Amino acid sequence: DKGGHKHFMAKEIAEQPTVIGEALSNYLDHNGNIHLPEPGLDFAKIDRLSMVACGTAYFACLTAKYWFEQIARLPVDVDVASEFRYREPPVPARTTALFVSQSGETADTLAALRYCADKADKIVSVVNVSESSIARESDLVLPIHAGVEVGVASTKAFTCQLTVLFILALKAAHDRGEIDDRSLSDHLSALRSMPSLIATALEANQQMQAAALRLAEARDVLFLGRGAMYPLAHEGALKLKEISYIHAEAYASGELKHGPIALVDKYVPVVVMAPRDALFDKTVSNMQEVMARKGRVILVSDRQGVEDAGEGAFATITLPTVPDVLAPILYAIPAQLLAYHTAVAKGTDVDQPRNLAKSVTVE
Ligand code: M6R
Repeated sequence: DKGGHKHFMAKEIAEQPTVIGEALSNYLDHNGNIHLPEPGLDFAKIDRLSMVACGTAYFACLTAKYWFEQIARLPVDVDVASEFRYREPPVPARTTALFVSQSGETADTLAALRYCADKADKIVSVVNVSESSIARESDLVLPIHAGVEVGVASTKAFTCQLTVLFILALKAAHDRGEIDDRSLSDHLSALRSMPSLIATALEANQQMQAAALRLAEARDVLFLGRGAMYPLAHEGALKLKEISYIHAEAYASGELKHGPIALVDKYVPVVVMAPRDALFDKTVSNMQEVMARKGRVILVSDRQGVEDAGEGAFATITLPTVPDVLAPILYAIPAQLLAYHTAVAKGTDVDQPRNLAKSVTVE
């Protein structure tokens, strides 16, 4: 049942305020305490976190690395499962291995989990399907509560994975004595505001649809971001590739002049994910380098950001202002909707893109 939407993907994008609220109520109580399912996890007892996943779940891990390192000062490795399993990396003592998978059945992620089973202190999984193989073989299962996801392009599972991983990063910071009560409760109340911020972001749908009409004409598209917006740029590029079949690549904004700027001309749209955070000015100056080469910038920022930096942009998308650290969750919305509307404009099969399966159970 598409609930009145044209595609499952549209329905699942629209569901995000609700399912994120669901995830929050499963992990947070009214007194602002974080509750993990049994047997729980004590981050004071570990020295590093090794995160492994594929596809969109991998980009959720890359985003969470910024959170674990910045907020909890916990060193984090992130790997694509297909590389991790054959590289056979050493797993030092006091390492917790964390696997993220919507389906819980991804063959490479499961194999990576099995590789760690007798090496890591603990096997933790963040899954949508709690009765899955990955969940069954984990010491601790953290469900994301996204509900069934039908669209092959993952949307609500991604933002729910981010929500659970953010909560986990706060728990890590607390266990390790890296955060005081005041900033913990500030982070938690910021997190609780996400469903309503996302609902507001969804209202910018028309701007995203208009920008997508431009993307639909392109052969190549670049996505740029800095900090935790860099993995999000990857997620935006993956979404666009998967359902519109347009070649898209993501770069850390600071890498632009190390090569990819050579690609830029008036035919290449460049989507710039630029929340007004500490790195905003740097991102904007990279964006101006793109404009100087006639690149067609689609700027995604908040009202003030669009006002300050939007001049000369090909298109702008205005999101509500969001606490810096949570921007990746909010900016997932334009990443998803730009891809969605581009695919619709191109007339591709949005829910069942060619050559792809929802769950990749063979390597
Ligand atoms: O079920 P999983 O989360 O383990 O799946 C991982 C990837 O196959 C998946 O995220 C894939 O990249 C999606 N099609 C992305 O939209």
